[in-house]
Amino acid sequence: MTLEYTLTDSEKLAHLDADELHRLVGLVEYDSESDPFPVSGWDAVVWVVGNATQTAHYFQSVYGMELVAYSGPNTGNRDHHAYVLRSGAVRFVIKGAVDPNSALIEHHRLHGDGVVDIALQVPDVDKCIEHARLQGATIIEEPRDTADEHGTVRTAAIATYGDTRHTLVDRSRYNGPYLPGYVERTSTFRKRDGAPKRLFQALDHVVGNVELGRMDEWVGFYNRVMGFTNMAEFVGDDIATDYSALMSKVVCNGNHRVKFPLNEPAIAKKRSQIDEYLDFYQGPGAQHLALATNDILTTVDQLRDEGVEFLATPDAYYEDPELRARIGEVRVPIEELKKRGILVDRDEDGYLLQIFTKPIGDRPTVFFELIERHGSLGFGKGNFKALFEAIEREQAARGNF
Ligand SMILES: [Fe+2]
Repeated sequence: MTLEYTLTDSEKLAHLDADELHRLVGLVEYDSESDPFPVSGWDAVVWVVGNATQTAHYFQSVYGMELVAYSGPNTGNRDHHAYVLRSGAVRFVIKGAVDPNSALIEHHRLHGDGVVDIALQVPDVDKCIEHARLQGATIIEEPRDTADEHGTVRTAAIATYGDTRHTLVDRSRYNGPYLPGYVERTSTFRKRDGAPKRLFQALDHVVGNVELGRMDEWVGFYNRVMGFTNMAEFVGDDIATDYSALMSKVVCNGNHRVKFPLNEPAIAKKRSQIDEYLDFYQGPGAQHLALATNDILTTVDQLRDEGVEFLATPDAYYEDPELRARIGEVRVPIEELKKRGILVDRDEDGYLLQIFTKPIGDRPTVFFELIERHGSLGFGKGNFKALFEAIEREQAARGNF
C-alpha cells in the first residue's frame, strides 16, 4: 500500500507540512493505487469577473493575497487579463475580458462574477480522463501537453454542475509560475506595516449549489466519475428554518484535501437561499469557498478593518445555554467569538470555528467562509440553523425572501 502523503507544489511553496495540513483541512493518508481517479489536491480556483484588474487588486489589498503571475495583452493574450494570486497553498486565477468578443463576456453576462473552474492536481491526467469517459462524464478538453521554457504541463477538463468545470493538471514536469502563457509578475501593492503575513493558508472546501432534486445525481457523479466518497450528510430539520430549507451532502477525494459539499433547495414556506443563488447565477455554481486559517480572530479583525462584511450572528446564539453545553471548551473565551460573530461547532473529533462573509460581488451569489479546525472534520452542521436565520434576514433586506 502506498501512502499518499505527498505535498502539492503550492503547499511546499507555502511551507506547509502534512501535520499542519491535517490540522488545517483534515488531510489523511490513503492508498492512491486503488483509486480509479487519483486527485492529489487543489490546483487553482479560476474566476470570471467583470473587472479582473480591480478584483485582483481587491484580493491583494483586502484578502492579503500576492500576485505571482499574469497573462494578458502584454504577454500575447489579446482576449483577457488573467491575474494569478496566492495565499499560502491557495491559488486564485482572476480572468476578465479585454476583447469585446471574448467568450468570457457571455459567461459574465449570464453568471456575474463567479467561479468557472475548480482545477485539481492529478498525478495522471490520462488515467482520470479514461475513467471519466467510461463513466459517461462530459470531456470538455482532451488531454494535451503545453510547454514553455519552464517545462511541460499536461491538462484536460471535465464538466461538472452548471457551467463549472474541473481542469485536471499534472504539473510534475513544470516549474513555471503558473501555466505556459503566463509570466511571473509581482505585486505593486504594498501591505501596511504590521499586517499579518497571510490571512489564510489553504482551501478547505468548495460548496456547489445544484438544481432542486439533483443533489443525489451530483453526489453520484463525484462517486462514480471521480471516485470521491461521501463524508457527512445533512438532510431535513438540521438545516431548515421555519421558512426555508436546503439539503446538503459532502463528497471528498481520497486524502480529504478536496471536499465538495453539494446543496439543493428544499421545499419550505419561502424561497431558500439556494433558490436565490440559482436565480441570480442563472443555474448551478460554486456557492462558497472555505479558506482555512490558523488564527481566525486575527484574520477576521484584519478583514473587518479592510471593510469586509460578515453575516451577523444574533447575540442569542452565544447566550443559548444549549450551545454553551454543546461546544464545551474552545481555545478562546466565547466573548471573543461573540464580539466578532464567529460561530463554533463541535463533534466527536473536536471543534471548529467559522464565519461567513456576505456575497463578494454584485449578485447575491458567491461568498467566503473562514474556518479554523481543531480536530473536527465537520462543516458546522450545528450552526446551519443559526446561520440560515442570519442569511434570511439579509435575503429579506434585498427583497428576495
Ligand atoms: Fe462551508
